Amino acid sequence: MKSEKQKKVVLITGCSSGFGLLSSIHLAQRGYEVVATMRNLAKRGALDEAIERHKLSLTVYQLDVTDIKSIEACLKDISGKYGHLDVLVNNAGYGIGGFFEDLSDKEYRDQMETNFFGVLNMIRLSLPLLRKSSSAKIINISSVAGLTATPGMGAYNTSKWALEGFSESLRQELSLFGFQVLLIEPGPYPTEVFTTNTRFAEKAMDPESPNYEYTQKLYKKYLARNETLKSDPNEIAKLIESLIVAKNPPFRNVIGPTAGLRYYFRRFFPWRLNEWLVKKVIFG
Ligand SMILES: NC(=O)c1ccc[n+]([C@@H]2O[C@H](COP(=O)([O-])OP(=O)(O)OC[C@H]3O[C@@H](n4cnc5c(N)ncnc54)[C@H](OP(=O)(O)O)[C@@H]3O)[C@@H](O)[C@H]2O)c1
Repeated sequence: MKSEKQKKVVLITGCSSGFGLLSSIHLAQRGYEVVATMRNLAKRGALDEAIERHKLSLTVYQLDVTDIKSIEACLKDISGKYGHLDVLVNNAGYGIGGFFEDLSDKEYRDQMETNFFGVLNMIRLSLPLLRKSSSAKIINISSVAGLTATPGMGAYNTSKWALEGFSESLRQELSLFGFQVLLIEPGPYPTEVFTTNTRFAEKAMDPESPNYEYTQKLYKKYLARNETLKSDPNEIAKLIESLIVAKNPPFRNVIGPTAGLRYYFRRFFPWRLNEWLVKKVIFG
């Protein structure tokens, strides 16, 4: 028989690949009631394969964090099936590269729509169901890029910095009702974010752009990452579980290669030194 702890209902966004996929498999293997969501069900192959291989029981829903109707439909079904939601993991996201000058207004706003307003959509609509849980937790997947900024990733930095500030405020509001709002700030891990989901501003790839030379350096570094990164994305799945289990987990959870170092450096070293180092590492 499943223990009370294991029966928690967990909704995760962005489960077609990467952290979302691995977390939904990891938690389902440990007996959680996982609601794995993805915006495009045509991409459910990897999850279905894991369900089949490990004989897992989890529910898969179509959900785009920018599409209110898809969120409402999923939550309505959760309400009917379980009557409550214990954990919401806001994982869905992507990063668009390119200097500010090369990013169109639409590219910038789209980044915010998914990584920031998408999280707000999820939380706003999930709160009534989370309020029915005795131990509700909201886990927001931010990034070390939400604590330190680098050239050519400004739109992504903005979206994750906004998520950091929002989470700080929301945590203090919801703690009045016994909720926990938690942040995970990963460093780089080899997921689809560095392969099929890599995005760069259209104009950044135009040789006529005044930033082209620098963007190309950035782009090549970005693509090479997947071959050199040795970090295991399953660490994030395990961290999510430990945050769910822990009675009073830390608010911020910086994890992964170089993440702690970057955060520490940005926080405690003089800004000029930080700036010099970032420039050296990225552009040589
Ligand atoms: N990997 C890293 O190094 C790293 C580091 C720090 C933070 N993060 C953060 O971790 C989270 C997960 O990324 P990942 O590394 O696992 O990358 P990933 O493999 O590219 O997975 C991203 C997931 O988000 C989904 N997604 C994108 N836009 C969406 C939308 N509007 N609605 C619903 N789902 C959407 C993608 O769906 P599609 O397949 O349909 O595009 C995919 O399932 C992101 O928030 C990312 O910013 C990653």
